[in-house]
Amino acid sequence: MKKMEDYVRTIPDFPEPGIMFRDVTSVLQDPDGLKLAIDSMIKLLDGVEFDVIAGAESRGFIFGAPIAYAMGKSFVLIRKKGKLPCETVSAKYDLEYGSAEIEMHKDSVKPGQKVVLVDDLIATGGTIEAAAKLVEELGGEVVKIIFLMELAGLKGRDKLAKYDVASVITYD
Ligand code: PRP
Ligand code: HPA
Repeated sequence: MKKMEDYVRTIPDFPEPGIMFRDVTSVLQDPDGLKLAIDSMIKLLDGVEFDVIAGAESRGFIFGAPIAYAMGKSFVLIRKKGKLPCETVSAKYDLEYGSAEIEMHKDSVKPGQKVVLVDDLIATGGTIEAAAKLVEELGGEVVKIIFLMELAGLKGRDKLAKYDVASVITYD
């Protein structure tokens, strides 16, 4: 039987020289890969009590929404700047290559709600650290952060030391 990592293809030097790009499209375009990915991420939430899943645009949406659906929870969007139509909170952050700004609707997380953050991958941790700050600014509590893939060499976890973080696959 194929393991989760067997579904991920690696592209050297994309999008810049020196980057080993872990490509999630090869997981998604195989029905068994997609199912194993969602089921494996759901397993990371065993025993976790929470109200809301928040997914980071865009690949966090792919995994966050089916997990929320399967677990009977709501799903809220963490979007790149300028996409959300109502009142937002926003945070700037640095990426492995470049920088960006993300936003959440002010009414997407209610004070006291327990939130699980979902993304396909953690590299430097900048995206999800900014996402956690937004959830907290709205009065939510980040109870777990889950990824399909973790690029451990980039030490993204160091930025998330105060959170409960789990990944299905870890690359050195
Ligand atoms: C990628 C990835 C994570 C983030 C990880 O998204 O899906 O969200 O980068 O990097 P970090 O840990 O260094 O912050 P990207 O911003 O490329 O957007 P996309 O999902 O829309 O492709
Ligand atoms: N793969 C996919 N997305 C990424 C990567 C990667 O290696 N690094 C930063 N975002």
